[in-house]
Amino acid sequence: MMKRDRANFGSKLGVILASAGSAVGLGNIWRFPYEAGSNGGAAFILIYLGCVFVLGLPVMISEFLIGRRSQANTAGAYQRMALGTPWRWVGRLGVLTGFLILGYYSVVAGWTLEYIFEATTNGFAGKDAQGFQAAFDSFAANPWRPMLWMVTFMLATHFVIVRGVEKGIERSSKIMMPALFIIILVLVVCSITLPGAGAGIEFLLKPDFSKVTAGTFLSAMGQAFFSLSLGMGCLCTYASYFSKQTNLTRTAFSVGVIDTMVAILAGFIIFPAAFSVGISPDTGPSLVFITLPNVFQQAFGGMPALAYVFSVLFYVLLAMAALTSTISMHEVSTAYLHEEFNFSRKKAARIVTASCIFLGIFCSLSYGVLKGYTVFGLTVFNLFDYATAKIMLPAGGFFISLFTGWYLDRRIVWSEITNDGSLQVPLYRLIIFILKFVAPIFIALIFLHGLGVFELFERS
Ligand code: PHE
Repeated sequence: MMKRDRANFGSKLGVILASAGSAVGLGNIWRFPYEAGSNGGAAFILIYLGCVFVLGLPVMISEFLIGRRSQANTAGAYQRMALGTPWRWVGRLGVLTGFLILGYYSVVAGWTLEYIFEATTNGFAGKDAQGFQAAFDSFAANPWRPMLWMVTFMLATHFVIVRGVEKGIERSSKIMMPALFIIILVLVVCSITLPGAGAGIEFLLKPDFSKVTAGTFLSAMGQAFFSLSLGMGCLCTYASYFSKQTNLTRTAFSVGVIDTMVAILAGFIIFPAAFSVGISPDTGPSLVFITLPNVFQQAFGGMPALAYVFSVLFYVLLAMAALTSTISMHEVSTAYLHEEFNFSRKKAARIVTASCIFLGIFCSLSYGVLKGYTVFGLTVFNLFDYATAKIMLPAGGFFISLFTGWYLDRRIVWSEITNDGSLQVPLYRLIIFILKFVAPIFIALIFLHGLGVFELFERS
């Protein structure tokens, strides 16, 4: 349903901070470091940068223009711009993807609250590597505790969403994003000045291509889409609240740069500290919750007060980054239910929160009582992560590029990117070329290669 009094972001800064808030999240601080750590460090980062700037930004510009043009939630947007065609499934797929991501993302977001609690009550002091491993295992396997934190996190998200676009989403981003930058800078300075931090800096800057495989490309692309919140209509939904004056290309560039900077700075917090105490950073998803608290204790071992402040700040940073992202995922489904089914915004938000909590329960329990329950060899949690980041987001990105590159009327694309000719966009032709050819071909190749489809052919 088209609502005439549609909400809007109130300012240019609000637009950038809210979009960057969506992009900057656990993807940058939790996921990026372990992906980089287990894929060879600097070599992975270079491929990642390529994926962000060559594939990611044009897809982001597409999402922006589809959202702003249609002034609708993501499912409604495709419906409206491609009436009666199968394209409407791209929007619906996006809503589903966002919903599934929120289901497992909120579990990790909940863990950050437990770690803030542990850090503030001095629970890290005196533990060694085994101690942190045991503490995490028993916490994650506990049926209630992680679930309660997950529910708390979802309720915090809910609280912001029901306050609306300008008073909820925009205002919270304007507070949390600057706070986040300050915390990051403080932590980076602490970490790189530790004795022996140089090896970590080298790991981030000196590429070792011997670890690069087809899987590395898939991981880098999946990470780029995940980290930029692309391929599921999240930024498309936010763009439906942009004004006609917003410069879409410039906004996309700012979001891409901020997101990449935060990911790399997170690397500069984690790797120098880890290397300074001789701990390898390639431990996978548990890096931030098992390895790091130990690293912080050891690195600042002689200065317990500093270890305390560093740990508390780090987990506060993680929680805030996660919150601005869960808000954006929640908004995709809330706007969808609100506009397509005519529920009030409050009711729509309540349905989304309740069903995400339901989904989150299974993801949370997959670290405990449901541990042995696997599909394709993956626990529910890992299945959601794999299916969304490595399959659904790249698939979404693929269709979004085709939609803008081939289906949409070129005049619409031009008028949105240049604001009806009032902006000079020197890269316009390049953006279109990427959307038409480069993005779909590369996404398809990386996708098939990464999944091992070519190897199957070679073998048979
Ligand atoms: N970009 C967010 C992060 O890096 C995650 C996210 C994915 C948010 C998709 C919205 C949509 O944590």
